[in-house]
Amino acid sequence: MSTSRRITTTQLRKKARDGERLVMVTCYDATFARLVEEAGVDIVLIGDSVGMVVQGHDSTLPVTLDEMIYHCRAVARGCTTPHLVGDLPFGSYQVSTEQLIESAARLLKEGAVQSVKLEGGAEYADAISRLTRAGIPVMGHLGLTPQSVNQLGGYKVQAKTQSAAEKLLADARALQDAGCFAIVLEAIPAPVAERVTASLEIPTIGIGAGVGCSGQVLVLYDLLGLDAGFNPRFVKKYDNLHSRVVEAVSAYATDVRAGTFPTEEHSHYVSH
Ligand code: KIV
Repeated sequence: MSTSRRITTTQLRKKARDGERLVMVTCYDATFARLVEEAGVDIVLIGDSVGMVVQGHDSTLPVTLDEMIYHCRAVARGCTTPHLVGDLPFGSYQVSTEQLIESAARLLKEGAVQSVKLEGGAEYADAISRLTRAGIPVMGHLGLTPQSVNQLGGYKVQAKTQSAAEKLLADARALQDAGCFAIVLEAIPAPVAERVTASLEIPTIGIGAGVGCSGQVLVLYDLLGLDAGFNPRFVKKYDNLHSRVVEAVSAYATDVRAGTFPTEEHSHYVSH
């Protein structure tokens, strides 16, 4: 019988309590899962951002539960240590608590993740309580919730007014009381994120929310600089893989056209 070596939600909460900042990154396949594990991240989020950065959609809305399970399994095969969070895609939990529990259970059983993430506040508190009582750890997601892009009118910074900030704080407390082990805070003013973080016992994971959160998440393809045209304020590009990939593939194309690849070194011969 194999025992999981994965970082648990208890260990994540302890790390945050001890003042260690949590490192989360998105990932969608086994190859990158191996790399982000080697880099030592704490949490891998198999995000529904897969719909935009891998599938080429202009929102996360078209992503299905079956697709999420496929990507979760691929990531789970590629790494053994990071805590794996599977995103519940749009339409897989909004109908009823029963639907939420069924979808989350599928992500754990078939996708091999340890916890699930869903977008929304106090309106999901009862359903999240049921989920956590059923033994499924939940990460919340407040602020800019991309699955509501049509209602929000675009990918905009949220909680900019006093009343919106108060609502966000109340939502965060409701998620904590419902049993969430952590909450993603996306695209909100840094002072609001800092206040929410200070008022919670569970860790917050920021994206576009300043340095006052308990940890940080970025979309892997964004931090690697794979899309030269995507340069929002909240992203820091740690590499420019866009040009490095284009240069590498161009060099390959040049070699193939010139007949300089493959050479003898890359060829098989039979000795008689
Ligand atoms: O799907 C995703 O990548 C996310 C992160 C941006 C938090 O939800």
